[in-house]
Amino acid sequence: MEREDIIKSLNKDLESVKNKNDLAQVKANYLGKNGIVTNLSLKMKEIPNEEKKEYGKFLNEIKVSVTEKLENCASSIEQQELEEKLNKEKIDITLPSRRKMKGSIHPMTRVVEELEDLFVSMGYDVVSGPEIDTDLNCFTKLNLPEGHPARDSQDTFYLDKDYLLRPHTSPAQVRTMEANVNKEPLRIVCPGKVYRRDDDATHSHQFMQFEGLVVGEDISLADLKGTLELFAKKLLGEKTKVRFRPSYFPFTEPSCEVDVSCFKCGGKGCSLCKQTGWIEVLGAGVVHPNVLKMSGYDPEKYTGFAFGPGIDRFAMFKYGITDIRQIYTNDIRFLEQFDRKDVD
Ligand code: DAH
Repeated sequence: MEREDIIKSLNKDLESVKNKNDLAQVKANYLGKNGIVTNLSLKMKEIPNEEKKEYGKFLNEIKVSVTEKLENCASSIEQQELEEKLNKEKIDITLPSRRKMKGSIHPMTRVVEELEDLFVSMGYDVVSGPEIDTDLNCFTKLNLPEGHPARDSQDTFYLDKDYLLRPHTSPAQVRTMEANVNKEPLRIVCPGKVYRRDDDATHSHQFMQFEGLVVGEDISLADLKGTLELFAKKLLGEKTKVRFRPSYFPFTEPSCEVDVSCFKCGGKGCSLCKQTGWIEVLGAGVVHPNVLKMSGYDPEKYTGFAFGPGIDRFAMFKYGITDIRQIYTNDIRFLEQFDRKDVD
């Protein structure tokens, strides 16, 4: 083949080259082991001596031209690929930025944290317990005799005959005493979810309680009163009045229910407090000797007090929530209102 023919056919081949792979193929066709140019070089030995010089020159020119053409093609492919990449990665700096979503602390979590801080400042430990607990811990060891109405499966979610979704946080008392037998003073609070068969605007099948227990050698009803007064005033405001009414709980003796002056009307009477001026917030009492005994404490030596408010109400009051079920539906539109800077 003449030099021009080779260059012509190379030009033609290069026209259809689209990428590096195509180019590698063309390169092999010319300069590879069995390539056109390589075969021409091999022919050198057949060339008579007097023509060798001429043929060598011809070969050299071919090689230089072919190599140059292939190199040019390689660099234009590279350039083209670079441009494609740059086009693909182009950033339009005029586009609006993506909105960053900011999380917020759930109103219930805020109340729990506030209460925990208060009790930790008074020397209490914060403990937690399982939401699935035994009938033994939830009822029997809290002196709730067989046949007590609270055991009724109408009120409680039983999983089988021994296990249930805890209907109150009071089993935390049993668990803590059993884990610390005769340690005193014992001061714990246990925030947590509890479950009952209830569902309307003021009752949810799931709600939050905040159990408290103190056991020691000289613990009396007076300590309970002082503690709960502080609790109510810190959480609901210094002007809050607290009143204790005698009541009955199997796990305390004596027992009381605690009312606070209505947080909506301040005690004048309104729809929230049903015109009474008072709102019931918790049950409490002096720990029943049977409860101490069943968890390994000597009731002759130790006494204690316990209390167990439902705390959803506090969150409803503090954050103006009208339906308790909103607290648990996790509707992001509802939760977004409680951005920390808006409410604190
Ligand atoms: N566990 C009770 C309830 O769920 C509340 C309660 C009452 C807790 C008296 C106590 C207590 O610790 O001493 O209704």
